Amino acid sequence: MSVISREAGALLLEHFHRRVKIEYKGEADLVTAADRTAEKLIRQRIAEKWPDHDILGEEQGLNDRGAEYRWYVDPLDGTTNFAHGYPVFCVSMGLERRPVDEPPRRIAAVVYDPTRDELFSAALGGGAHLNGEPIFVSKTAALKESLVATGFPSHKRHKNPNIYFYHHITLHSHGVRRAGSAALDLCTVAAGRFDGFWEFNLNPWDTAAGVLIVEEAGGKVTRFDGLPFELNSRETLASNGLIHHELLQEFADILAGRDLEPLPDPRAYKV
Ligand code: IPD
Ligand code: CA
Ligand code: CA
Repeated sequence: MSVISREAGALLLEHFHRRVKIEYKGEADLVTAADRTAEKLIRQRIAEKWPDHDILGEEQGLNDRGAEYRWYVDPLDGTTNFAHGYPVFCVSMGLERRPVDEPPRRIAAVVYDPTRDELFSAALGGGAHLNGEPIFVSKTAALKESLVATGFPSHKRHKNPNIYFYHHITLHSHGVRRAGSAALDLCTVAAGRFDGFWEFNLNPWDTAAGVLIVEEAGGKVTRFDGLPFELNSRETLASNGLIHHELLQEFADILAGRDLEPLPDPRAYKV
């Protein structure tokens, strides 16, 4: 798994240095030849090693044969960054076991950032690692002392209320970063560099690997109402566990429209 993600990461880096052509899947939904070539490579490598596993990849979709194991592959998470030459992107691969008589469980994950040569990995019950060394979530216990992150999906962006969450949490923390790769954001929480992360409407290939890595690093991942995270939840709230209740409270308040600081009117802005 690590070997495959490193090979795909090297391929991405090659394309990155050549500056590939941008294509559009939607108004601001970008794709490049690198996304497609990397997914093709990953599918080929998985099929060579585990021919009876199913694969859901962002670019080619799902081949559902009802297999006991299913891979969730984002061959390039952070395509917009990649396409603009901003070096924040990764390969994300999560493996799920789906026994017939039990609920599916995420069992293994790798996220590889080729720009920093950082390989995040986790196995269910085996902890989380960065380049082979154990990693743990931060010990920050208060939201007001936290650095957190979010993202804004390109799909249906005019309907996304996240700007209110961004504004509100910015005013109640050390800051909110928006780096552009959800899988890396999750790993950044796992490594204790961010204390929390949230996003609306992520897809299973964005979260399958990163969520397991956060959990195995001692963190917590839920929906915005605190219920257990599932791959099709469309709400991802990850944290070090210690600030989770505060984030949930903030989210409940924002969703109910309580204590919302109005967005400042730019026409009234004076230095
Ligand atoms: C995107 C990135 C981004 C997030 C978007 C995702 P992609 O994935 O993870 O950070 O905000 O929601 O779609 O398209 O670069 O694979
Ligand atoms: Ca993605
Ligand atoms: Ca992608």
